[in-house]
Amino acid sequence: MNSINSDDRILRFYGASHPEMFEIERRCMDRGGVVIRHLDSELPEGLVLDVGAGNGFTAIRLHSSARTIVALEPDADMIDRHASLRWVQGIAQKAPFRESTFDAAYATWAFFFDGVPDIDEGLAELQRIVKNSGKLIIVDNAGGDEFSSLATRSTASDPDWWRDRGFDQTTIHTSFRFDSLEEANRLLAFYFGDEAAAGNRKTEIEYRVVAYSTTVLKR
Ligand SMILES: C[S@@+](CC[C@H](N)C(=O)[O-])C[C@H]1O[C@@H](n2cnc3c(N)ncnc32)[C@H](O)[C@@H]1O
Repeated sequence: MNSINSDDRILRFYGASHPEMFEIERRCMDRGGVVIRHLDSELPEGLVLDVGAGNGFTAIRLHSSARTIVALEPDADMIDRHASLRWVQGIAQKAPFRESTFDAAYATWAFFFDGVPDIDEGLAELQRIVKNSGKLIIVDNAGGDEFSSLATRSTASDPDWWRDRGFDQTTIHTSFRFDSLEEANRLLAFYFGDEAAAGNRKTEIEYRVVAYSTTVLKR
């Protein structure tokens, strides 16, 4: 689903090439908004960076009069200029911001997948651009749920990898909730292949997410 482009260091995402699939994903994944509520309660007011913001789905929901979200996204075809956000085009590994600019930074299913070769470079950038005592939150798949059981290979992040880097973890229980079985199986076939989709009879599929968080400490 994702592939690394070594030239521009963007982890290619299907959202721009298959917008109809991304539309289903974003509408049906975490439909109850549990992940958004978690981020909303954990993130501070002030200036907050969304890294790999996609089309701004999450950023728009976390933006408020007290919290300005800056949306960093490398893929021009993902950026939705109609979304009233401050957009910046760029990559996590070379974030175009001054030191200690943000009160916090977060990423939802974007770039910070343990196993990505330059992930530590990206984390170092977040440490640089977030203020002392600011927060970092990385959201990824937790695994051990109905959704990941449909995949032929592991889609879960590695909690030990994040613990070794000083991140705490919170598991968030949510689901994919589709409008119809046809819609569910269309997305599952796209993600995991026809066989996975053929075996599914559910329009709501359990999905476990993990939020890794840490506090930036500068000397
Ligand atoms: C799975 S999408 C998630 C989008 C959004 N965070 C959301 O939850 O809807 C991953 C996003 O990360 C972006 N991305 C890829 N490589 C990146 C990099 N090196 N730095 C920052 N973002 C990156 C992709 O362009 C894509 O928009």
